[in-house]
Amino acid sequence: MRIIKLDATNSTNTFLRQLSHTNKLDDYTVVVTNSQTQGRGQMGTVWENIPGKNLMFSVFKEVSFVAIDDHFYISIVVSLAINKALNTFGIPKTFIKWPNDILSDNKKICGVLIENVIKQGAIKETIIGIGLNVNQTSFDNLPRASSLKQITGLHYDKELVMLEIIKNLKDYFELLKQKNYNVLKTAYEANLFRKNKPSTFKNAEGSMFLGFIKGVSNSGKLQVLLEDNVVKEFDLKELELLY
Ligand code: BTN
Repeated sequence: MRIIKLDATNSTNTFLRQLSHTNKLDDYTVVVTNSQTQGRGQMGTVWENIPGKNLMFSVFKEVSFVAIDDHFYISIVVSLAINKALNTFGIPKTFIKWPNDILSDNKKICGVLIENVIKQGAIKETIIGIGLNVNQTSFDNLPRASSLKQITGLHYDKELVMLEIIKNLKDYFELLKQKNYNVLKTAYEANLFRKNKPSTFKNAEGSMFLGFIKGVSNSGKLQVLLEDNVVKEFDLKELELLY
């Protein structure tokens, strides 16, 4: 496995994507950095970092075995791989907040940015960017963020945590390649944050409503049980879970 270590870069996802344009990359080629100048989050957000404290890395994977309609299974694989690694390191009360944030003790400790390369209507490759808060201990103005160290009081070897996540990625991608969709979705839903709990959501118009998360559809929409026993499916732009 090739691991490219950079002291600083704009974004490990951007770096790996550009590298893939000029080089034929093997599966699980990794770019990891101590500092990002233009770290990117989901839906066009910025991913901030304190240099050296946290894990920021991206993984290349050829995924032409994943049908475009099943693209959410890549998110499922990644979420499960991170969640399992955190359990191995003894991080308590971890949950997957749909679609792929990882929380511990109700606080976000990890964010994921998956960028699929689609050609002629089919997914060819994916770049999986993972930002895991490891040894950072203060989160000014971010009351919903935390880190492994803040939760357990222990200092972690970032590389060991990264290698554990990559090992799990290999195992879960193998399950996906063998089309174990039910196993993967069941495991994902078993770890879903606020599943079957009364939760407040905000819709795209800003109105609040109450519902119960029941699961996810194959296309990755969140299934929420609403009043009158109706289950409605939402995509990322259509609702926000308030917690
Ligand atoms: C999010 O929760 O919004 C996703 C954050 C993803 C951050 C990681 S850090 C490594 C990789 N490079 C990036 O620019 N983003 C991802």
